[in-house]
Amino acid sequence: MGGALLEGWFRHGLSPVDVMVVEPAGRAMVLPAVDHPALVVLENERQIPTDFKPDVVVFAVKPQVLEQVIPHYRKFDSAGSLFLSIVAGKPISAYTSVLGEKAAVVRAMPNTPAAVSRGVSVLFAAPTVAPSQKRVCTVLLGSVGEVAWIDDEEFMDAVTAVSGSGPAYVFLLAECLAEAGKRAGLPPDLAESLGRLTVSGAGVLMDSSEESASELRRNVTSPGGTTQAALEVLMGNDALESLLSEAVTAAVRKSRELAG
Ligand SMILES: NC(=O)c1ccc[n+]([C@@H]2O[C@H](COP(=O)([O-])OP(=O)(O)OC[C@H]3O[C@@H](n4cnc5c(N)ncnc54)[C@H](OP(=O)(O)O)[C@@H]3O)[C@@H](O)[C@H]2O)c1
Repeated sequence: MGGALLEGWFRHGLSPVDVMVVEPAGRAMVLPAVDHPALVVLENERQIPTDFKPDVVVFAVKPQVLEQVIPHYRKFDSAGSLFLSIVAGKPISAYTSVLGEKAAVVRAMPNTPAAVSRGVSVLFAAPTVAPSQKRVCTVLLGSVGEVAWIDDEEFMDAVTAVSGSGPAYVFLLAECLAEAGKRAGLPPDLAESLGRLTVSGAGVLMDSSEESASELRRNVTSPGGTTQAALEVLMGNDALESLLSEAVTAAVRKSRELAG
């Protein structure tokens, strides 16, 4: 996810000269799309030059390692750095308890379509974050998609479950559609490309339309036709809606567990 953001930032004019990446697995793990000769890649935090004063420190590690990572960046609080985290589950207090209560911390939840500048990011700021620092976050996350700020951190778990994890649900829909096509007798290659192209095409159509998702659905549903027959299965007893609601509830629960 960190690589996807960096890719978007470079595309929008951030210079590799102005970025330092810490990646334990080294340069080999840096996405080819962002690997520029001028980009400094360090294998651990101790290699960060002592006089380095970053405007923004971005945390893009797994929640499970965050606790070990944050203390290495404490010195940047006195340098006036803004801390921007995309780590799922971890509340602002997980950062301020180590970096100091006055640390300027913004929690963001982007999603992977950021890699193609079609992400959506929801952001929450600690009260210590200045309006100018919020604008920096809006520019950074806005360069890879849409941005929405929330003023209640409680929403972050549900945001994570809906848009952070959401692209995986949509990819699963493409897989299931392909599987169903195979069971209906289609050759596997054809079923897979129909699943993929139908989901991506419907996404582009929705993106280019002013109509709501339900209006678009009704537009392709002739009364008594084939689509209606299928939708009666998916929508009868709110079947798909209940299943998705159960899935989102499980993701919300996991996000709360990750808070530690
Ligand atoms: N993937 C998504 O769709 C998505 C969406 C929204 C938010 N997020 C959040 O983004 C974060 C990263 O997720 P991901 O899916 O991108 O995971 P990932 O692919 O495992 O990326 C995490 C990266 O952090 C590196 N790392 C480990 N320890 C480090 C350290 N001490 N200093 C610097 N880097 C270190 C890892 O290197 P090694 O591989 O060498 O350990 C790895 O390259 C997570 O907190 C997740 O909740 C992800």
